Amino acid sequence: MTTIGIHDLSLATAHHVVDLAELAEDAGVDPAKYHVGLGQDRMSVPAADEDIVTMGAEAALPLLERHGTDGIRTLLFATESGVDQSKSAGLFVHELLGLPHTMRVVEFKQACYGATAALQSALGFVARNPEERVLVISSDVARYQLESAGEPTQGAGAVAMLVAADPALLAIEPISGVAARDVDDFWRPNDSTTAVVDGRLSLSAYLGALTTAWDDFTAAGGVGIDEIDRFCFHQPFTKMARKALAGLAQHTGTTLPDELQEATFAYNRELGNTYTASLYAGLASLLDHDDDLAGTRIGLFSYGSGAVGEFFTGIVQPGYRQRRRRESIEARIAGRVRLELPAYRELHGAEHPSDTEWEAPSVTAGPFRFAGIRDRARRYEATQLDAAQPPGRRD
Ligand code: CAA
Repeated sequence: MTTIGIHDLSLATAHHVVDLAELAEDAGVDPAKYHVGLGQDRMSVPAADEDIVTMGAEAALPLLERHGTDGIRTLLFATESGVDQSKSAGLFVHELLGLPHTMRVVEFKQACYGATAALQSALGFVARNPEERVLVISSDVARYQLESAGEPTQGAGAVAMLVAADPALLAIEPISGVAARDVDDFWRPNDSTTAVVDGRLSLSAYLGALTTAWDDFTAAGGVGIDEIDRFCFHQPFTKMARKALAGLAQHTGTTLPDELQEATFAYNRELGNTYTASLYAGLASLLDHDDDLAGTRIGLFSYGSGAVGEFFTGIVQPGYRQRRRRESIEARIAGRVRLELPAYRELHGAEHPSDTEWEAPSVTAGPFRFAGIRDRARRYEATQLDAAQPPGRRD
């Protein structure tokens, strides 16, 4: 049987970084609450000329440079911080990357779960035609109100994945366990740029979706808990994944030590919450930091507030170590430019309504930028010569 899964993946983040130790000191909070209690060190913050589109395009660029565009007929863009109520953010990325005109492009939304819905759909497209490859992009900016409990769990980042037959990284197994229940734990109304959240409820909704999805996974014929070698959970803050593994251990009556997921935390401790991209940033971290994964089975749990969950598994492919991008990801994270708190707060409060012409200042060092608003439409452009002639250039 043909295996289908993640052939390659790449991560991007925003230009700026805020140190949570500084945020804690300013708020009169013990920094250990953020570093240990939440398991977070820093959070990425987009510059004025960055958003989900620029990060998503940057994440996808190395995939096209390595693999070209042959066979790519679908771009699925997952986000819960969309920039338009109608047009898919994927279409801006499609243009920036010069992808072929013969493509389907669409945006997926269900809180942080959207990327998993996109991934599952991509597996379906490839199952119908194994010659096809699907570009899945997850990109988000996590924003809560200043001085709220959620503030230290903000962040920004994107993960792009190429889904294909005979994948080089992770073959996704066919059995999934799913969960859905209408819960008011976290949402973002149309007229708000920040999320509304009931923190306590969001934690219990996450853990409830996990056990429901696990039971469904088992009922559908999924493998036993002792046949899973590593775990990778959605990480709104990395401590949440520790709670999740402990909850699953209790639910299944087993012992699941944190070493089974420790390698998934490195990137998310730095990026903060990246919503739809968070689970896959955890996967990137695991593949980049654990040298003994070939042939092992990873259990993945995707959570989306509101609330849905999905538990599924994948087998790490031999040779995955040759495909890693650890050096470039670490360089990207280390290269972020520190934001002082007053500048961070000013950026956080900035609003650019669509009925006001606005030219964005040139700040980002990334390959693409949000140029501003003209004729009520968002405008994007490449910042570098090589990005102006992307690998997918049609014509
Ligand atoms: N040293 C070490 N640890 C400390 C400490 C100190 N000095 N002070 C406090 N802590 C610990 C606490 O004991 C607690 O740990 P445990 O939960 O393990 O007991 C942790 O730090 C956090 O402390 P609080 O619970 O008091 O924190 P809080 O009430 O200020 O806020 C939060 C925590 C509710 C998660 C808040 O950050 C929040 O609302 N975040 C946004 C919502 C969110 O991320 N929810 C996650 C599930 S929903 C989801 O997954 C979707 C998504 O992406 C949003």
